Amino acid sequence: MKIIRTVRAMQQVCRDARRTATLGLVPTMGALHDGHLSLIRRASGENDVVAASIFVNPLQFGPNEDLEKYPRTFEDDCAQLEREGVAILFAPSPDEMYPQTNGQKPQTMIDPGAIATRLDGAYRPGHFVGVATVVAKLFHIIQPDRAYFGQKDAVQLAVLRQIVRDLDFDLELIACPLVRDKDGLALSSRNRYLSAEDRKTALILSRTLIAMQDDIRKGIRDSHRLCRQPHLLREADESFKLEYLCIVDPNTLLPVSEAVPGALVAIAARVGETRLIDNFLVAEVGP
Ligand code: PAF
Repeated sequence: MKIIRTVRAMQQVCRDARRTATLGLVPTMGALHDGHLSLIRRASGENDVVAASIFVNPLQFGPNEDLEKYPRTFEDDCAQLEREGVAILFAPSPDEMYPQTNGQKPQTMIDPGAIATRLDGAYRPGHFVGVATVVAKLFHIIQPDRAYFGQKDAVQLAVLRQIVRDLDFDLELIACPLVRDKDGLALSSRNRYLSAEDRKTALILSRTLIAMQDDIRKGIRDSHRLCRQPHLLREADESFKLEYLCIVDPNTLLPVSEAVPGALVAIAARVGETRLIDNFLVAEVGP
């Protein structure tokens, strides 16, 4: 695996690869888990060459968020990527990605507009401007044929679908299924922050969604009724703070009154200091 640290070198290597091969990109912030590896495997199946990136993007962290303590496990990540047959790893420094900003925000940023203020965007102001900006830069530098993102970050996916459309990126955006731990918790690099006690509390997210899936199977479709999940209140103690539980259109993130097939059921909560998200698409569970 080639590990590349500069934009210029990455552009060159990717340009060469694209001459004879299709190129798949898996952008990450490192601290890799099985969810990331599922993206890599899908990319390997669909492209001749797979490139991954590891970059903890300062632009997508708010002033009181976890940029400093975000897990950095570079050696271990490299070993996993190597095992999965990734050919090119782009791992730039913040100064390489945002030169001449002296730690400040760059002048040019991609603002996805209203969609970036919905759901997680309402709780993390500026987050999706940071995501859209770094992903647009990665798309320009690497110019992949396909780019792979996890369905777990359903809001990120909606934002990225919009920027691909609005800015005419010539690539296919591929959403890959959410991966869960044995106990049902959606895999996330931030799960490492959870204490054993927090981890039990965190299962309220997946349990709530399972209860909603059951209700949908029973034929309940009304969004308000589905979102009134009594055990959310019963089980939650003061370490669990619900941010949202809603049913929305997966492309616009606007609320829908009924859980029609294809609708996105999404939940976000704080468990202690850790912010967690989870979701499912109604189509996945059927009528
Ligand atoms: O999903 C992530 O890990 C990040 O938001 C991404 C897409 C790599 C951009 O920094």
